[in-house]
Order: sequence, then C-alpha cells, then structure tokens
Amino acid sequence: MKKLVVVTGGTGFIGSHTTVELMEAGYEVLIIDDLSNSRIEVLEGIEMITGRKPMFEKFDLCDRGKVMDCFKNHPGIAAIIHFAAHKAVPESVDKPLMYYENNLLSLINLLEAMKEHGIKYFVFSSSCTVYGQPDTLPVTETSPIKKATSPYGNTKQIAEDIIQDVVSAGDPVEAILLRYFNPIGAHPSALIGELPIGIPLNLVPFITQTAIGIREELKVFGDDYNTPDGSAIRDYINVVDLSRAHVVSIERLLAGKNKSALETFNLGTGKGLSVLEIINTFEKTTGVKINYRIVDRREGDIEQVYADTNLANNELGWKATISLEETLRSAWKWEQYIRQENNG
Ligand code: WQD
Repeated sequence: MKKLVVVTGGTGFIGSHTTVELMEAGYEVLIIDDLSNSRIEVLEGIEMITGRKPMFEKFDLCDRGKVMDCFKNHPGIAAIIHFAAHKAVPESVDKPLMYYENNLLSLINLLEAMKEHGIKYFVFSSSCTVYGQPDTLPVTETSPIKKATSPYGNTKQIAEDIIQDVVSAGDPVEAILLRYFNPIGAHPSALIGELPIGIPLNLVPFITQTAIGIREELKVFGDDYNTPDGSAIRDYINVVDLSRAHVVSIERLLAGKNKSALETFNLGTGKGLSVLEIINTFEKTTGVKINYRIVDRREGDIEQVYADTNLANNELGWKATISLEETLRSAWKWEQYIRQENNG
C-alpha cells in the first residue's frame, strides 16, 4: 500500500518538483493548491514525467472547513509537506495583511486539521531569509535569526515559531523545517520548471527571459558590494536537489529517525556565487549572450549569504550534487520549452 503525502502548493515551482520526486520514490501524492500563483497544466507535466497524475484538490487553505473536509475524504494521510504561501518580497511590503493572513492562517488550519485527523508528520518550506544578513558566513542552523526585513520574511519566522510552539505544547506533531537558499533550474525533462507570472523578481528566470528576448535587458542590482566582483552573493541550489531533500525528510520522519520532534536543516550547496558569476556561467554554458546593465542596489537586498551544509549532509544524509552548469542549462531548456508551448 503506497503511503499518501499531501503537498500543499504542489503546482508551484518547488512543490511540483517535489511531487515528481515523491511519486518516483513510490509515494501517492495529493496536491492541494488554489492556483493563485500557478497553473493547472503543471499536473500534465508531472504526469508526463512520472506516468501518473497526482490527486489534486483546488481550494484555499485559509478555509478551515475545506481543509477538514479534505482530510476527512482522504483517510490515511501519512505526512504533509507545506509549500503553499505567497512569496514575493516587494508585494509583501505593499500588502502585509494579505501575507500575514494567507501564510499564517493556512498554516494554522493545517496544524489544526493534523491534530483532528491524527496526522503526525510535517515538513515545512522555510527560507534562509530568516537569517537576514548573517554576521558570519557560512550560515548554520544556529546562526541568529535577524529581524525580518519584509512581511514575507516575517511570515516565515512566525511560521517557524508557531510550529515550535505546537511541538512544545506536546501536540502529536513531529516536524522538519527546511530553510532553502536560492532554488533555481528546472526538471531535466523540461516538462516542469519555474513559471513566474508577470515580470520575474528572481534572477535566473529574468536571465532566461532576457536570453529568449522577452525582456530587453537584465538589470544587475548593484556592483558596489564588498564582494570579489562587487555583485551580491547567494547560494544557488538546483530545484531537483532541493526536492530530493524533502523525500529524505519524509522518510526520516516515517522511519522515526528524527532525533527530536522539531529539526531544522539548511538546504544549500555551501558555495556562494555572485550575480555576475551566474550571468557569465549562463553565457558560457548556453552560448547565449545576456544584455545586462549595472544599476543601483535593490531595496532590502542583503550583500551575501551561503549555507553551512554540514547538518544536512551528515545528519539528514542529503547533499546537493547537480552542477551549476547543468542547472542553468535546465533553466534555459525549460524557458525554450514554455515559449514554444505558448507560441504553439
Ligand atoms: C538574487 C540576486 C538580486 C533579479 C528571494 C527571497 C527568498 C527566496 C528567493 C522565496 C540578488 C539579484 C535579481 C534581477 C538582480 N524567495 N538580481 N537582477 O532576493 O536572494 O531571494 O528569492 O522563498 O526568500 O528573498 O533572490 O533571485 O531575487 O536575487 O541583480 O533582475 O540576484 O539583487 O543579489 P533573493 P533573487
């Protein structure tokens, strides 16, 4: 009997790739998504890759009744991976209440429903944004949590606190918090990938849209940082590597191998790369020149962050392995695929 895992936000970027890895690892998946920031066609991509369509329910997780009904209709849920959240930093500054309500109420409803339906295991999509600009690098799971610089980042910090408090209250929940660094790339099949709706905020989708001619030029936000080439440094992790860490986390919980009821892991490569290094590597790997211009720093950006990955490597037993070149090639292949689909 296959174990059933609920993936909220499963038609999104990381959620869809994690669904593929779960199904290929032999799990049944129920995706819950309101499609507010993703497309139903992602299910076809998942089916083309795995040969099966995951179960899917479209509703807003802020509707507690719907969450309860869904869990009642799907007895035997083994675990939940919670991705569903609004995640655009600038939008969160403009619309803080929308972010606090959506990102926190959905979490609270899920945790309530878990108690009601005896679902114990929970994997939460968190972010390195909780660290802000770390004082020392690489950043470890015990590095200080800095005051959030956006309502989006604050919802991640508050969500982690809510989960911690539920576990401390002795509720029958065992959780793993996964703090992502910068997820990039696409599935090697180019059948699923990042689908930014509107103008991309993140670097790599902006690079691929500039490469394919949708965007006139890429703006590089600052080259006056205290870094080797002046541009900001991040820890870019392949989305398939990242997704595999979720399968490992689920298996850890189901096998009772977690060392405590709440564990936290940084998911990065451990290597910091600058914006200009990403651009240069993309150009070398694909042979496509990127038209870019250096402009002022972007409000709220930090100078550099990259992960200490020892805990994830040695305790979780997971390591990022896919090269930057292969990752950027997959992002480019995906961009070309969606453009031909849209023009098809
Ligand atoms: C990376 C670097 C930019 C676009 C954010 C969230 C984080 C997570 C990932 C959700 C920065 C530079 C970018 C562009 C540029 N989101 N850049 N020109 O800001 O590190 O992280 O997205 O979970 O929580 O904070 O990612 O890809 O936006 O930027 O120069 O057009 O690329 O300044 O240095 P970021 P990013």
